[in-house]
Amino acid sequence: MPPPFRTHVFVCTNRRPDGSPKGCCASKGSEDLVPLFKKECDAQGLKDLRINKAGCLDACERGPSVCVYPEGVWYGGVTADDVKEIVVSHLKGGVPVERVRMAPYVKKS
Ligand code: FES
Repeated sequence: MPPPFRTHVFVCTNRRPDGSPKGCCASKGSEDLVPLFKKECDAQGLKDLRINKAGCLDACERGPSVCVYPEGVWYGGVTADDVKEIVVSHLKGGVPVERVRMAPYVKKS
């Protein structure tokens, strides 16, 4: 029997060397988001989801990048101030937070 998680939240914590042209989510504070998500999920009594550190999600310029599966909802430019709203509105209430939702885009090759 698999673990009882209905949802996984992937937080990119990829770090690149300073000066990298793509930048990275870690340099924008994403590592601090992981414990904040976990703490807020605990505070909201959410036991059936998992906050996962992730490697690069290939949306570096839009980071910190966070995605929620199996829904496939992506957030960009997430800050500590956004975490509670994402947890309460989306992860608990089922309503994604549109103001931080990553707009669809075509990846340049
Ligand atoms: S470094 Fe976070 S999406 Fe690439």
